[in-house]
Amino acid sequence: MTSKPLSVSFTIVILTLSTTFSLQSDQQKVLLVSFDGFRWDYLYKVPTPHFHDLLTHGVHVKQVTNIFITKTYPNHYTLVTGLFAENHGIVANDMFDPVLNKSFSLDHMNIYDSEFWEEAIPIWITNQKAGHATGSAMWPGADVKIHKSFPTHYMPYNESVSFEERVAKIIEWFTSEEPINLGLLYWEDPDDMGHQLGPDNPLMGPVISDIDRKLGYLIQRLKEAKLWDVVNLIVTSDHGMTQCSKERVIELDQYLDRDHYTLIDQSPVAAILPKEGKLDEVYEALADAHPNLTVYKKEEIPERWHYKYNKRIQPVVAVADEGWYILQNKSDEFLLGNHGYDNALAEMHPIFLAHGPAFRKNFTKEAMNSTDLYPLLCHLLNITALPHNGSLSNVQDLLSSAVPKAIAYTQSTTLLGGDHLGELGQEESYPYFLGVSLGCIIVIVFFVIFIKHLIHSQLPALQDMQAEITQPLLQA
Ligand SMILES: *[C@@H]1O[C@H](CO)[C@@H](O)[C@H](O)[C@H]1NC(C)=O
Ligand SMILES: *[C@@H]1O[C@H](CO)[C@@H](O)[C@H](O)[C@H]1NC(C)=O
Ligand SMILES: *[C@@H]1O[C@H](CO)[C@@H](O)[C@H](O)[C@H]1NC(C)=O
Ligand SMILES: *[C@@H]1O[C@H](CO)[C@@H](O)[C@H](O)[C@H]1NC(C)=O
Ligand SMILES: *[C@@H]1O[C@H](CO)[C@@H](O)[C@H](O)[C@H]1NC(C)=O
Ligand SMILES: *[C@@H]1O[C@H](CO)[C@@H](O)[C@H](O)[C@H]1NC(C)=O
Ligand SMILES: *[C@@H]1O[C@H](CO)[C@@H](O)[C@H](O)[C@H]1NC(C)=O
Ligand SMILES: *[C@@H]1O[C@H](CO)[C@@H](O)[C@H](O)[C@H]1NC(C)=O
Ligand SMILES: [Zn+2]
Repeated sequence: MTSKPLSVSFTIVILTLSTTFSLQSDQQKVLLVSFDGFRWDYLYKVPTPHFHDLLTHGVHVKQVTNIFITKTYPNHYTLVTGLFAENHGIVANDMFDPVLNKSFSLDHMNIYDSEFWEEAIPIWITNQKAGHATGSAMWPGADVKIHKSFPTHYMPYNESVSFEERVAKIIEWFTSEEPINLGLLYWEDPDDMGHQLGPDNPLMGPVISDIDRKLGYLIQRLKEAKLWDVVNLIVTSDHGMTQCSKERVIELDQYLDRDHYTLIDQSPVAAILPKEGKLDEVYEALADAHPNLTVYKKEEIPERWHYKYNKRIQPVVAVADEGWYILQNKSDEFLLGNHGYDNALAEMHPIFLAHGPAFRKNFTKEAMNSTDLYPLLCHLLNITALPHNGSLSNVQDLLSSAVPKAIAYTQSTTLLGGDHLGELGQEESYPYFLGVSLGCIIVIVFFVIFIKHLIHSQLPALQDMQAEITQPLLQA
């Protein structure tokens, strides 16, 4: 009679333990979200309860050094390749490639030429080659055919598509029969409003509150879809924003003859292509022109920017001081907020928060490089990183459990010294502890029932009972 609950208990023990171990080897899921132009400290401008929820239940990196130039397309490509601009080839939002004899321009959404993107291989391609699926809701560049492929699922770029629709797609892809393990989600604000209003404008408060509500909406939808506890959510951005002013304008027309050069990219990093034979003239005319403009010949560009060794970097590059604006003349478009400046400036730095089974809880880290995100993503997705400029070991402390050695050593080494990981801790993940604890409780309950049975039953009955107990064990 009592042998029935006994066998049921035993079956539960077995099921629990096997769930525990399968949880361990489960593929990680990652959702990477970029709120364009979300400066690292916007978090503190107005109450941002959803962002703060993430940081108390997940990890927060205060200062993320992004890459030069601190523009949208170069930085988004770095997030998914781990490479500096000179290495991934998307050196600006507006480019000219003298070998291809082709232009790339964000202004005209003239960005769909595959050749511009193929100096690197973005993570979705590597992910898919490893047999996984990727879904991109408007991630910059993810609707371009690169090395003959697209993400498994993607939405062609259309700025009129609402945040809610983008989230709906992401949820659909994560919950489909062949679910994605990597989702990429992009939203244009607070960049758009930051440009129009300037980051110091009090009207930025409501803009940031709106982004916080959007994050809350995303979290709610993930919870409804039962994804919240399984997805590793990373919320970051491409760059920050700084206040500009009509009082701080550098007019190139005052120093240069327009017939002597082509202006490929404007502000705050002017990419100047001098006409045939005019290089020295253009350089000399600009070199000491304005105290807030630093002018470099391509070969003099500081190494720390990793912004030199690429044919798309023009022969003369003029960089404005923070908050200064480069125009040809004052009738050109002027924005109250801008970015693109030196990546060492805090105001250019993006936000970085992460939450999920792979991440520690309530953990703050002072600094990281944005190139480190790529090896982190590869580690989470269990794919082999291609050569890159980051390092997993720099961000390993964000993770709740130590990196298994087998995976750690498959990471490719970089010229920066590589990902040679030291001794790894034996810390286990949260689901593991949960599973083991549940298992133990059930084992205890089982033995309580077992002992109760012993007390209340005759000894001869024991042998039959044992026979019945072993049966479900063998079947499990
Ligand atoms: C990681 O990938 C390898 C194959 O590359 C596979 O054998 C292993 O089971 C995977 N690990 C997890 C945790 O999925
Ligand atoms: C580059 O392309 C332009 C048209 O966009 C053409 O006029 C020019 O001749 C081309 N230059 C070379 C060197 O092919
Ligand atoms: C962009 O999205 C809007 C809103 O969904 C839609 O009305 C419009 O047709 C779309 N544009 C293109 C080019 O698909
Ligand atoms: C602009 O140049 C002036 C004069 O050299 C300098 O005092 C000021 O700090 C510069 N502005 C910035 C933002 O660097
Ligand atoms: C600025 O340049 C435009 C041509 O791009 C010209 O039409 C305009 O007159 C110039 N404005 C001034 C103030 O020089
Ligand atoms: C997070 O950590 C801080 C100290 O770093 C502590 O004051 C706070 O109570 C913690 N919050 C939660 C929710 O654990
Ligand atoms: C960022 O990378 C540089 C090397 O390029 C390294 O010296 C620095 O320590 C890294 N910063 C962090 C916070 O890991
Ligand atoms: C960045 O990574 C690429 C690819 O491994 C490499 O070719 C390049 O030299 C690296 N740059 C630096 C500064 O280490
Ligand atoms: Zn941007």
